[in-house]
Amino acid sequence: MKFEMKNKKDLRNKILELTKEYFDNHHSVSEFKPGEDYIPYAGRVYDFNEGKNLVDSALEFWLTTGRYAKEFELKFAKLLGVRSSMLTNSGSSANLLAMSSLTSDKLGEKQVKRGDEVIAVAAGFPTTVNPIYQNNLVPVYCDIDLKTHNICIDELEKAKSKKTKAIFLAHTLGNPFDLDSIMEFAEQNDLWVIEDNCDALGSTWNGKLTGTFGHLSTQSFYPPHHLTMGEGGVVSTSKPKLKKIVESFRDWGRDCWCESGQDNSCGKRFDWNLGNLPHGYDHKYMYSHIGYNLKATDMQAAVGLAQLDKLSRFIDQRRKNHQKYYDAFKMFEDFFFLPEKNPKAKPSWFGFIITLRENTPFSRNSLVRYLENKKIATRMLFGGNLTYQPAYKNLNHRVVSKLENTNYVMNNSFWIGVYPGITSQMQDYTLEIFEKFIKKYK
Ligand SMILES: Cc1ncc(COP(=O)(O)O)c(C=O)c1O
Repeated sequence: MKFEMKNKKDLRNKILELTKEYFDNHHSVSEFKPGEDYIPYAGRVYDFNEGKNLVDSALEFWLTTGRYAKEFELKFAKLLGVRSSMLTNSGSSANLLAMSSLTSDKLGEKQVKRGDEVIAVAAGFPTTVNPIYQNNLVPVYCDIDLKTHNICIDELEKAKSKKTKAIFLAHTLGNPFDLDSIMEFAEQNDLWVIEDNCDALGSTWNGKLTGTFGHLSTQSFYPPHHLTMGEGGVVSTSKPKLKKIVESFRDWGRDCWCESGQDNSCGKRFDWNLGNLPHGYDHKYMYSHIGYNLKATDMQAAVGLAQLDKLSRFIDQRRKNHQKYYDAFKMFEDFFFLPEKNPKAKPSWFGFIITLRENTPFSRNSLVRYLENKKIATRMLFGGNLTYQPAYKNLNHRVVSKLENTNYVMNNSFWIGVYPGITSQMQDYTLEIFEKFIKKYK
């Protein structure tokens, strides 16, 4: 059989036209039916533009990190206001890369070494603290504040020891932790700061974006997050040395910094002296770190690029949805603590967190079950007290206090969605269901 060679551009346009038709018909949002449709806690919000980029990159078939990834990194860094953003395949990988980068001997005196301590909280997502263990470091857990769900600043001094080398914290559910106090403490004690900004893209502290205060910060682009590319993440820094180290850990531990598909960008590929290798050994195969391969694909980056255009709308919507719940929940204040923020913080919320007051006549679990039965998704504050999780039982960590608030939150808090896919009808229905539940106890 003989195939007619068709014009590339025409074929591409035809495929994209069909893709648009498919998206318009099968990816459009249908009208919400209260009590029938599930209200998710978070999810993807997208249109044909994401589909177009995805198909385009698939047709291009570069597959690995390429021009879309480069463009995403540059745009993201500019948006955040940092020198460099390095794309990786998840937020968890971003956290692993950020922590691992501080163990590089290229940092000289500032290298974080086996057995050194990192200040953290136990109320959070596992992969914020896992990289501490994975690098043979010791987390030192501080308690959290009951209303902001962020670290209790007055525990920092208690956490400090001769071995303290870094602070690694997430902005809980988008609510910035006290960056003035953390950065001041870090400066006074010569500590590294990593901001896990995975749940907080767009949040500000004193008008400046979170993720720009620490030496390193991380993002996740898993579907519930402020932007998505399915799986994906970013490590950001304004320190050129850290950029190079992060890239090395991400890209097999290599010393070479050529883009994928490129050779000899240093101009002396066969003229390096490193380790005990023979002079002139190919720089492409020289390794300065025990690295990973945590690169993302160009298809992921292509989707992320289309999402970037929607970011400011997404952030506004998250704030509006949060505010609506906050205002409405004042009627339930006898039962719940509502989330509070520092006056300097303007969160780009990940969720609306509710904490039962002491002696409420119902339990958190009974309320959560009721909501889930009514098709309203709920989530706990991730791992509760991570030190109570089976995976952490026998690991080496220090705990500064009894973590009373962490435990209180583990037993009494949960959150509901404010992501941009939550409509005002969904919020009205959710509030109605809360009212029905609470009425029984008034
Ligand atoms: C605060 C925080 N850090 C890190 C992660 C991990 O991100 P990912 O799921 O992309 O690995 C998450 C989870 O989604 C998270 O909520």
